[in-house]
Amino acid sequence: MTRPDLVIRNGTVATAADVISCDVGIAEGRIVALGESLEADQVIDAAGKLVLPGGVDSHLHLDQPMGDGSVMADGFRSGTISAACGGTTTVIPFACQVKGNTLRHAVQDYHARAEGKAVVDYAFHLIISDVTAQVLGQELPSLIDEGYTSFKIYMTYDDLKLNDHQILDVLSIARRDGAMAMVHAENSECIAWLTEKLELAGDTAPHFHAASRPPVVEREATHRAISLAELVDVPVLIVHVSGQEAIEQIRWAQNRGFRVYAETCPQYLFLTAEDLHKDGFEGAKCMCSPPPRDKDSQEAVWRALENGTFQVFSSDHAPFRYDDPKGKMLQGADAKFAYIPNGVPGVETRLPLLFSEGVGKGRIDLRRFVELTSANPARIYGLYPKKGTIAIGADADITIWDPDKEVEITNDILHHNVDYTPYEGIRVRGWPETVLSRGEVIVRDGEFCGAEGRGKFLKCEKPDPARPKGTGTTL
Ligand code: URP
Ligand code: ZN
Ligand code: ZN
Repeated sequence: MTRPDLVIRNGTVATAADVISCDVGIAEGRIVALGESLEADQVIDAAGKLVLPGGVDSHLHLDQPMGDGSVMADGFRSGTISAACGGTTTVIPFACQVKGNTLRHAVQDYHARAEGKAVVDYAFHLIISDVTAQVLGQELPSLIDEGYTSFKIYMTYDDLKLNDHQILDVLSIARRDGAMAMVHAENSECIAWLTEKLELAGDTAPHFHAASRPPVVEREATHRAISLAELVDVPVLIVHVSGQEAIEQIRWAQNRGFRVYAETCPQYLFLTAEDLHKDGFEGAKCMCSPPPRDKDSQEAVWRALENGTFQVFSSDHAPFRYDDPKGKMLQGADAKFAYIPNGVPGVETRLPLLFSEGVGKGRIDLRRFVELTSANPARIYGLYPKKGTIAIGADADITIWDPDKEVEITNDILHHNVDYTPYEGIRVRGWPETVLSRGEVIVRDGEFCGAEGRGKFLKCEKPDPARPKGTGTTL
């Protein structure tokens, strides 16, 4: 056995498979031993603490150039410091193709944005917005081979959306080349039609955002995405699922044996459309797409987390400042909802919120918590078992939790560069106290102590969950 240079002693170690009491031995950034009474020069005492794999946040937006003049408040430095302080040690943001530019250009651009800044390890999903012959014939296949093995496609937003024909084209590349396809499922035409009607009636305040994107809009698109994937015979992952109606479509597909995966996010457990009704323009703080729904939907999302319908719990951190002409107030403090940047911040609060309300209240157990927030996203995006578990040979990305620490979430304790949190005032029990990335302590007593730029780019393997069933068309 390689002698550890660091040992985490006396903790309760949890993975997606087991909860055990043991020491964790670390050498040269990797886990080299799990056992009793391990010795090393450096020791972290984790008595009374939980020792979990660092979180893997597989849906967040950092420094993503926006077409409308808005600017994301978090780049790779503040965004990943915030991730680390919230117990997350791997992030998978998006390299977004701008229409008219190549996919390769997007990837090079995002590397330049991340290098020298990220403090935790990172991979990239692609966003495909321009389905050219070059993208289909050359760029996408080579990028998949080079370690960019997942991509997101949009069914809405004028500058990003693909039509069904284009979706089929990219899904068939995913099938042939082994990539994971993620879909933002909302019906663009319905949203445009409803928005037009609402604007004609003068109903343009932030809360009408929810009325412009009712559950049926998400349900129809979810079903269509599943059907297109069935036609091609390729697995698909529906991102940021908001409630019962989309969940029913996903469950229906899973019951038929389709490889349909799904993700949800804290905003669908902790916010409702009522939050968009806050005084004046304040509702803009909770505007995201799909919008938060109602209390029954929150319950449906909890049930789907409990019963295995969802595989992934991510943040969809979309960092726009509120009181800022480059953020939510891009078009002023009385802007129509259709012109307010979408998205809520949450990379740092993702894990404490789910831990406290999920594990603390007995809705999910510790193993399921690790599965949803770390092991599954690592598996589904080709990073497992290097990331997402505590096992011999895995990177020593570890978060040590104080399960009893009580914290009131307020924006001033967070490390993002956004001027608000939608979770202001929520009290949680359990907080990530110490965070190790590749064996190095980067968060101590809740504060970041690592070096800017220490995060490394990760090439993703072709994920096993992206394998087709082999039952459909092979056109
Ligand atoms: O409103 C949201 N979710 N904004 C972020 C972009 C996206 O679609 O994930
Ligand atoms: Zn989306
Ligand atoms: Zn997103």
